[in-house]
Order: sequence, then C-alpha cells, then structure tokens
Amino acid sequence: MNTTPDPTAPGPAPGEHQDRVVLVVGGGKGMGRAVAEAFALRGARVAVADTNHLPSAYNQYRTQKVDGFTAATALAADLRAKGLDVTALEANAADEDSVRRLLADVERLYGRLDTVVNAFGVTHVSPVETMELAEFNRVVEGNLNGVFLVSKHALRLLRADGGGSIVNFSSVSGRSGFAKVAHYCAAKFGVIGFTAALALEEARNGVRVNAVCPGMIRTAMWDYLLDEFQRPGETRDECWERMRTMIPQREFQQPEDVAETVLYLASARRVTGQAVSVDGGMSAP
Ligand SMILES: NC(=O)c1ccc[n+]([C@@H]2O[C@H](COP(=O)([O-])OP(=O)(O)OC[C@H]3O[C@@H](n4cnc5c(N)ncnc54)[C@H](O)[C@@H]3O)[C@@H](O)[C@H]2O)c1
Repeated sequence: MNTTPDPTAPGPAPGEHQDRVVLVVGGGKGMGRAVAEAFALRGARVAVADTNHLPSAYNQYRTQKVDGFTAATALAADLRAKGLDVTALEANAADEDSVRRLLADVERLYGRLDTVVNAFGVTHVSPVETMELAEFNRVVEGNLNGVFLVSKHALRLLRADGGGSIVNFSSVSGRSGFAKVAHYCAAKFGVIGFTAALALEEARNGVRVNAVCPGMIRTAMWDYLLDEFQRPGETRDECWERMRTMIPQREFQQPEDVAETVLYLASARRVTGQAVSVDGGMSAP
C-alpha cells in the first residue's frame, strides 16, 4: 500500500494544522471550546465565534442567560496568554446577517480560511403530542439552519488557496431516534443529510464536508437534560449514572475525545461526506 501523502490532494496532511486558519462556531463552551483549544495547541490560528444573544436558551438551565461570547472572549484571552493565536468573534449562527459579518471578519483578519467547525447547538425536551410548533422550529433552527448558513457563506473562502474542510456537529440523536427529543433528532439527522449532499457538491472544489456524532458528554446541555430526565427520588448524579447503562463501553465520552475526531476529519484528505460517531458504541449498527 502506498502511504505517501498526495501533495495535490486538498487539505493539510494528517496532523498538520500549523498556521491553518480555523473557525469554530459555538466555540465558547462545551465541545466547541475543546475543539478550539486542540487546534490552537497544534499551531492553528483559531477564530472562536459564539453569542450572548439566542432566542432559545434551552441548554442554559432555562434562565435565558446565554453567555457564549463572554466565555469565548475569556477563552481567547487565556490561550493568547499562553502564546496561542486565538481570537473571539461575536456571531449567531442561525442569523444570516450575523454569519455574513462573521465571515467578513474572518477574511479581514486572516485573509484565508482552512477549516470551519459548526459546534453550536441547542436542545429541549417534550413529547411530540404537547410540543409547540415554536419549540420545534427553535430546535431545528438552532441546530440545522446555522450549519447551512455558516457553510454557505464560508465556501468561497474555503475554496480559495486549494480547498478546505467543514466539520458539522450531529449527534447520536442523528443516528437513532430518542423519545421526547423528536425535533432535536430531526435536526441532527438533517445535519448528516446536509453534510453528505454538500460533500458531493463540493467534492471537485477541494472542500471536504464531514460530521461528528458525539454520544453523551456532560456539558451545559446535559445540565438541562438531567433536570428533564431525573426520576423522582433520583439525584442528578444518579440520573447521569443511569445514562451510562446506554453506552456499550460504559464510559462517558469527554470533550477531548470529540475534539480529536474533529481534528482527524479536518486533516483526512480522502474522507468526505461521512458522519463519524464518538459514542462508545451506542450507534453500532
Ligand atoms: N453534550 C452532549 O452530550 C452532546 C451529544 C451529542 C451532540 N451534541 C452536540 O454537540 C454540539 C456541542 O454541544 P455541547 O454539549 O458542547 O453544548 P454547550 O451548550 O456546552 O455549548 C454550545 C455552545 O454553542 C453556543 N451556541 C449555541 N447556539 C449558537 C448559535 N446559534 N450561534 C453561535 N453559538 C451558539 C453556545 O453559546 C455554547 O457556547 C451541539 O451541536 C450539540 O447538539 C452534544
């Protein structure tokens, strides 16, 4: 087998992120934060986009307190103090004007773009029978519209300089249905379909498009979900431990596990149109 990297193939060789420009949308907190940090530690120039203004704050304890941009600003300051090249930008992925401004900012600051990671998302729990259309729309918009908008407005910059790559966040809920999150499942299955279709459209333009499907990671999103799934008499930690029984490996995934897969997808020159699960076997066929 010939393992010599093909210099004409689009994207950097595996492991090479030095001086690449990476945009992580939803990178202020949770897994996006781990992705931003992992790219920066490998020498990439990282723009971390997030927002303090969302119509839906389901994953922030129902408080309507959204502070992703504040978190992104603190992360950028922290990593810059360590000598890494990280900048925070304000953007709401579900708002087209905001996305246009974001990509204009990236072009003005860096003049190029190599990798986009769509790591934002929101969730909500409701049976379909009592789900309001507004709730359905907010969850679909909060997870899917931004993947379309950020991808659409990033393509021109990604195609320049020989091509680039997009990694979209789907979920184990994009592989299997789960009760009481039908809107979230619809959106996350949608992310995988969108990813495959765009990968085919862009295959000859040098832009690769893939998705990552995390299993269960105890971020702010799960702070909200534990409130919803806790049984009477059960503590939050006991509820979380009950979730472990759904994982064949019986180990929860960490943000860093997902970040490593995102870095791989960003650098795997011949991999496009794929959805890769990091879920301890939950979605094994
Ligand atoms: N936590 C899990 O167990 C899990 C499992 C599978 C998939 N996911 C998915 O992984 C992704 C990251 O989830 P997380 O658990 O790290 O979530 P999180 O809530 O910890 O972080 C999400 C970040 O995205 C930001 N964000 C949300 N909507 C945004 C928007 N429209 N524009 C810009 N920023 C926005 C938030 O401010 C926050 O900083 C999401 O797509 C989520 O659906 C999470």
